[in-house]
Amino acid sequence: MADIHRINFEPVDIEMEVGEEESILDAAFRQGIHLMHGCREGRCSACKSYILDGDIQMVNYSTFACNDAEAEEGYVLLCRSHAFSDCTIELLNFDEDELLGGIPIQNVRTRVTALEPMTKDIVSLLLQPVEPEIFEFKPGQYADLQIPGTDEHRSFSMATTQSTPGQVEFLIKKYPGGKLSGLLESEISVGDELSLAGPYGSSTLKEGHVIPVVCIGGGAGMAPILSLLRHLSETGSARQVHFYYGARTSQDLFYLDDIIELGKNLRDFAFVTCLSEAMDQQ
Ligand SMILES: Cc1cc2nc3c(=O)[nH]c(=O)nc-3n(C[C@H](O)[C@H](O)[C@H](O)COP(=O)(O)OP(=O)(O)OC[C@H]3O[C@@H](n4cnc5c(N)ncnc54)[C@H](O)[C@@H]3O)c2cc1C
Ligand code: FES
Repeated sequence: MADIHRINFEPVDIEMEVGEEESILDAAFRQGIHLMHGCREGRCSACKSYILDGDIQMVNYSTFACNDAEAEEGYVLLCRSHAFSDCTIELLNFDEDELLGGIPIQNVRTRVTALEPMTKDIVSLLLQPVEPEIFEFKPGQYADLQIPGTDEHRSFSMATTQSTPGQVEFLIKKYPGGKLSGLLESEISVGDELSLAGPYGSSTLKEGHVIPVVCIGGGAGMAPILSLLRHLSETGSARQVHFYYGARTSQDLFYLDDIIELGKNLRDFAFVTCLSEAMDQQ
């Protein structure tokens, strides 16, 4: 069995254990410590931290997220980092409320209750949690859906909120041949079981904040924003909300009426759609 090492996080003074075979970020989740993160794939840099002491090696990451000079200086991406000694790590970015108080990661068995086309290549997938019957998450978070018959998973943002606990919606762009999204063409259908793990992601609304919310997304990237809008609307938020949504053509726009309806419950809502191929439509 691989060696176990101790990690001390500064300046929050939290300690945990990590095995050499697991990433430091995964070890933190396993022990209920919610470090700042985004993609969990070494691509976004949200988990970038600084090694104060110890032997840490990074695997399989993008140099856009952590370039060679930064890596040389001691910066690491915790989602792609393995510890080979006891270490002290400085967290550059952390949310004190989330750190030890985030929603625990759940493994949920779900059933497909609907699979509807939204555009020519985006589908709405509705999953009903079966075991446990409730999947807890915050608006703006995402889950890992397991690719049936494999140990692999893909990440997808929830589009719904806790107001519909029996129906968790995902908006998924279909890539022909895609290991997961490709299955939505004909292999996955209503009644099938899918396993998910989550919630992950730090792109959530912070309690008590009043500053304007600006959301920018395109294509299936509407999902986490729709979850945020649904939540803001359900809670009658007084925050100013602007949503800029990009698509290729007018045929690629969807949920427009729903979004306008959600905006009616908000005090100051603006919704702007932007088309990159609008001229081709004329
Ligand atoms: C945090 C996070 C949240 C996400 N949320 C969503 C979401 O809400 N909705 C959603 O649809 N997707 C989302 N994704 C992307 C999703 O996880 C998968 O990467 C995507 O569905 C492709 O997986 P696949 O198994 O179908 O394709 P794969 O088998 O992984 O790839 C199949 C082929 O498609 C190509 N391909 C894969 N992804 C892309 C891409 N983005 N652009 C161009 N070519 C590509 C690959 O190069 C490959 O040739 C999210 C990803 C992350 C990291
Ligand atoms: S680089 Fe995105 S979470 Fe680590």
